[in-house]
Parts: sequence; C-alpha cells; structure tokens
Amino acid sequence: MNTESNSLVSRRGLLRTGAGLLLATALPPIPGHAAEPSEYRIVAAPGRARLAGAGRPETDVWAYDGTIPGSLVRLRQGKRARLVVENRLGQDTTVHWHGIRLPNAMDGVPGLTQPPIRSGESFVYEFTPPDAGTFWYHPHANSLEQLGRGLSGAVIVEEREPVAVDRDLLWFLTDWRLTDEGGIASGFGNRMEAAMSGRVGNTVTLNGRVPQAEAVRAGERIRLRLANGSLARIMALRIEGHRPVIVAIDGQPCDPHEPEGGRILLGPAMRIDILLDMQGEPGRHYGVIDDFYEGLTYRLTQLAYDERPPLRAHPLDAPADLPRNPLPEPDIATADHYDLTLQGGMMSGMGGMQGAGMMHGMTGMGRSPVWAVNGMSMTGDGHARMEPALTFQRGRSIMLAMRNETAWWHPMHFHGHSLAVLSRNGKPVPHRQWQDTVLMAPKDVVEVAFVADNPGDWMLHCHVMDHQMAGLMTVLRVA
Ligand code: C2O
Ligand code: CU
Ligand code: CU
Repeated sequence: MNTESNSLVSRRGLLRTGAGLLLATALPPIPGHAAEPSEYRIVAAPGRARLAGAGRPETDVWAYDGTIPGSLVRLRQGKRARLVVENRLGQDTTVHWHGIRLPNAMDGVPGLTQPPIRSGESFVYEFTPPDAGTFWYHPHANSLEQLGRGLSGAVIVEEREPVAVDRDLLWFLTDWRLTDEGGIASGFGNRMEAAMSGRVGNTVTLNGRVPQAEAVRAGERIRLRLANGSLARIMALRIEGHRPVIVAIDGQPCDPHEPEGGRILLGPAMRIDILLDMQGEPGRHYGVIDDFYEGLTYRLTQLAYDERPPLRAHPLDAPADLPRNPLPEPDIATADHYDLTLQGGMMSGMGGMQGAGMMHGMTGMGRSPVWAVNGMSMTGDGHARMEPALTFQRGRSIMLAMRNETAWWHPMHFHGHSLAVLSRNGKPVPHRQWQDTVLMAPKDVVEVAFVADNPGDWMLHCHVMDHQMAGLMTVLRVA
C-alpha cells in the first residue's frame, strides 16, 4: 500500500488556513470498492513482497489482497460494514477485527466464536463499528505464523465529521525476521523465545517497506496513526526536534498529552494517533528513532522537509481533541472486582510451569505451556471448549486488577471491549485513556475498568504471539 494508501488517507480532513476556519469537505469515496461503500472482499493468499526496497530480494509472504500490509479497510462510524474474507492459504484461518467492539459471532476466534474458514471457503463478517479510530485486522488461527508471514492490515473508522488536520497519515509498522536471501526465517514457536521476549525480528517495515524518509512540509499539521503489527517487537519512538501530542490510544480518543519523556511506547497490537505540527526547518531531516531495546537503538525513518516555505506562520490553533466515542462509563463505586495474574516465563521461579491447576495442550498441538493466567494455561489460538476463567454479569461495571508477576513485558489484549486504564502500580494514570491492549512492564500492576455490556465469550491474551501460543491466554465470559 505504501505511498498510495498514505495519499488515500490524506485526502480527507482538508483545512483552510487563515482564519483557522474549517471548511467542511466531503469525505472521499472508499477506494477500490465500487458498489457499497463499506463492502470489502479480502483474499488471504500467498504472495510476494519487496520489503527491503528496490534491488533487494523479494520475500515470499502470506498476504491480504497480495499487499503488505493488507488492503486498508476504511469504514464509517455507525455505518454497517460487510467484509467477505476468502481463504486461499491452504490452511484454516479467520479474521479478527482488533479493537472493534462488535458482536461476538463476528470476532474471528476459531472454535470460540466461529468455525475456522477452511481453505477454499469464505466467511462474511458483518458489523457496525460504534467507534471511530485506528484499528487493525489479522488472523486468529495459527496466529504466530500467519501474522508473522504478513497477514495484517489497518482498519480506519472515520469520524462523522472530518478532523482539522492538513494530512492524515498511517504508519503501519511490522517487524520481520528475514534471512540474507530475503526469506522469512523459519523457527516459529521456538520454545526458548516463547518463554522470553518472543520472536523479535531484524527488519522493521513502515507500510510494507523498509522506510527511507517521509516527505513533510513545514507548518503543516499531520494526524499520524501509528500501528504496531509486530509479533513481539515493542517500540519506543522519538521524533527529533518535534513534540508529538497523543490524541488517541487504541482507537479511543484520550486527553491530548505529550508522551512521557518524548517517547511513544507502542507495544504489539497497539495503535497511537498523534498530532504533529511540523515545526522543523524547510530542507532539513529529522530522525524518527526507536530506542526501546537497550543497545539496539535504530533510526526507523526520518521526516524530510521539502524546501517550500512554511504552510503557516504559527502552529494551527484548532483544538487537538478528537470527538469521544460512545463508550459506556464504568461506575467505579459499585464495580465488581476481579484479579488477573500473569505467571510463568523464564526466570519466573516456577520451574518451567509445573504449577498446579495447569491445563495442558488444549489445542492438541503438542505445545506445553510456559505461561499462565490465574494458574491456568490456554495455548494456541482459540478452539472449542475453552472454559471462561471469569464470568461477568452483563451490564455490570467491572474493575480488573492485572498483575504481571513475570519478568517480561506483555501487551495484554481484551476482545470485544475497551478498557479505561485507571492506575499503574498504585498511581492514577494522569490522562483519561481507554485501551484494548495494555502494555505491562515486568511486575506492573494495572487497574482497568469497563462495563461488561457485550455478551459472549471473549479472549484475553498477550499479543506477543509466542506468549499467547504458549499459554498467556484466557477466556472471559459476559453473560
Ligand atoms: Cu489482535 Cu486476540 O487479537
Ligand atoms: Cu482483538
Ligand atoms: Cu506476553
């Protein structure tokens, strides 16, 4: 998709400068899907991609619609969407619409919410996205390998009114482990990695390419949607000479704020929308640096200012707030309280998870678990007969204390709901924020709250795919 999708994304939300007056502009038609605006047909199949750019070998991938990342799915808030997924992979798959609050039967978890889509068959996903924002889609079957070979794409749900920015860009970030010949390295599901940080790769692409530079103009305001579609790589992004303002996390608008220490922490599966006022000098370049892993700092890309004079003399003073989504507000005073404890991994002192109460090899795929939630391990991707660890009464406010007793980071993801993050290690979070994927540092205790308003059996799992496959997964029921 690369620049093409960037320009598609950027066609909306045009702003007239001068009086700071927003001219209502018509939303562009959703590209490539003539008949019904929110209809898509997505084909999952093997393909080839030039990830490292011209002159470098191509990579055999598995892709949606033959592109890396897959077709950009643009939906509209409150408007029904119909997505037909056709499987030509030669193995079972499903599609999960990560972060979208939708009916359980559309959630794409094989065995739990739908039968797997067999190769040669299709499945029709239909739902009405209640929330505007940045989401993504990926398989929930053989997830580690299917995601790791390229099956992922972004979903943008448009706000009802355009947001006041000059350009709206998407950086879909993906980590790959490539061989010298350009192939995807084998060894998915390595036990050692599964018990540590997961399969972190050696190549990061931005919209499917190892990036060189992103062209920008002085004075413009960009809404930049960052999405981390990696299997395991956590990112901490800084933009030299710039002060990004975080306006949404996991698709949900938050109180606009600058990231702590100027670093945007982006765990696997997380999305962060920032507003970026281009206050650099025409003609100059500014690095975008990822320094999450100690000693492994690298430059992801750079902002390359063209020579044109600034678009405007002062940063735009339009408000940075995005319109709120219709999330039910939990009532903390009367909430039901539950605990979720994450256990296991290397250096856990649990002796390779020989603990009591473990459920072994529920997938029958011969994987013995190395992680657990509340003393139980569900391994694999989703399958029949997964018993819920907790059952919530529908409509109740729920307060969950999540404790990471392990020595590793975990982006914990809950399906079907968005969670208000209340506190971290006893300290209230300084900004209102809702997330579907909560990144937990080793030993973190995070309190979240939500209204259990979406009935069904929902996955809760770590989005480091090796961790999920190796037991860091559970099911929570809303009944
Ligand atoms: Cu993004 Cu259960 O997944
Ligand atoms: Cu999800
Ligand atoms: Cu994890």
